[in-house]
Amino acid sequence: MAQHAIHLTINSEPHELTVQPNRTLLDVLREDLGLTGTNKSCGTGDCGACTVLMDGLSVNSCLTLAVEADGTDVVTVEGLARERQLHPVQEGFVKHNAIQCGFCSPGMIMAGAALLERNPSPTDEEIRRGLEGNLCRCTGYTKIVDAVRWAAERMNDATPVEDAP
Ligand code: FES
Ligand code: FES
Repeated sequence: MAQHAIHLTINSEPHELTVQPNRTLLDVLREDLGLTGTNKSCGTGDCGACTVLMDGLSVNSCLTLAVEADGTDVVTVEGLARERQLHPVQEGFVKHNAIQCGFCSPGMIMAGAALLERNPSPTDEEIRRGLEGNLCRCTGYTKIVDAVRWAAERMNDATPVEDAP
């Protein structure tokens, strides 16, 4: 099978890769780049464990061919923290004990971050809708919704450094 050269940015770093046309973005992230924070579970788009951001939108990386990601900007859970500071959604998950086995957590966190990008002040209903497609078998979802709500409040209350007295 012919190989394809692709160029993409992953967690702010440029990458040039040669991939088979049938390889998924998920497999390239995990197997070629060692970014195993993105989990693989169903492989069929049903669980959300493999959620990453592609050009700011949450996608199931198990359903995205690596060649489709050519030229895009991909963020995985490893790239969400900035300057050793957790993203507010990550912080919310810790503060609200929204992690039990943790298998769904990277995907949930990426979906939560994408939601707050497009809707900075979601209602609980909007949070639940924003996370649908991401399955959790442990938490009952309530703490996850609490975590994302906390992150939204934190992001809206945060005083930008340049505006601080
Ligand atoms: S592993 Fe991609 S949706 Fe389940
Ligand atoms: S914490 Fe176990 S699947 Fe969500």
